[in-house]
Amino acid sequence: MAATGTLYGVGLGPGDPELLTLKAVRILQTVPVVAYLAPPDSRSQAREIAASWLGGQREVPIPVSCQADRSQANQAYNEAALILAQELEAGRDVALLCEGDPLFYGSFTYMMQRLAGRFPCVVIPGISSVNAVAAVTGRPLVTGNERIAVIPATVGEDALRQALAGYDSIAIMKPGRRRARIVELLQETGRLADAVYVEQATRPEQRIVTDITTLEPTPGPYFSLFLVSRGIAA
Ligand SMILES: C[S@@+](CC[C@H](N)C(=O)[O-])C[C@H]1O[C@@H](n2cnc3c(N)ncnc32)[C@H](O)[C@@H]1O
Repeated sequence: MAATGTLYGVGLGPGDPELLTLKAVRILQTVPVVAYLAPPDSRSQAREIAASWLGGQREVPIPVSCQADRSQANQAYNEAALILAQELEAGRDVALLCEGDPLFYGSFTYMMQRLAGRFPCVVIPGISSVNAVAAVTGRPLVTGNERIAVIPATVGEDALRQALAGYDSIAIMKPGRRRARIVELLQETGRLADAVYVEQATRPEQRIVTDITTLEPTPGPYFSLFLVSRGIAA
């Protein structure tokens, strides 16, 4: 029986096309098929990060919005899994482009659930947005005995309050339309001065806000996060 192809989950890092690993670049340049999430209403960030490393392979856009509800997203992943399975069955390797790290809040997990039992699956780790935000703001994520929590803004205010009160460092992912409320929670928990807010870290559109009180009281873009940390001790 002919060998099947391998599914690669390729971590592309947070945006700067120089923040890919050598391994990610090698896989991108050698696989015959690349697939990526293609939100219907915007460009594929993963495709853009990888663009300078691609070389005319077959491309399979997966039409799913980052903000789709679970059942819409599941349907898109099911359909994409069928298409990718055809490529893998034909013996062709497939690289699924993943913004940041594939297994850190990455939709790669959902494709792996559908395909890894049937085909070889290899994950190439990538630099996550949390690491990127620490780097571009020059703030240590954690030092010594400090503890860190990573928490999506979508989990609710009680969980956010507990994280802000109980951890030295907190990365608040996916602030989106809850951005203004998060500023209030930072104030409430006494963590305002510890917080920085970053949009589009390492991309040309990058925006760093160190005085959180100046943030517009409006929803923010999808690619943004708050990093709360103790900073560098004097
Ligand atoms: C579905 S998660 C994907 C995380 C990604 N796999 C990673 O390793 O960082 C999307 C969230 O990650 C954060 N994010 C991803 N890239 C970012 C960037 N370049 N700048 C700021 N936040 C980013 C935002 O909070 C966004 O809502």
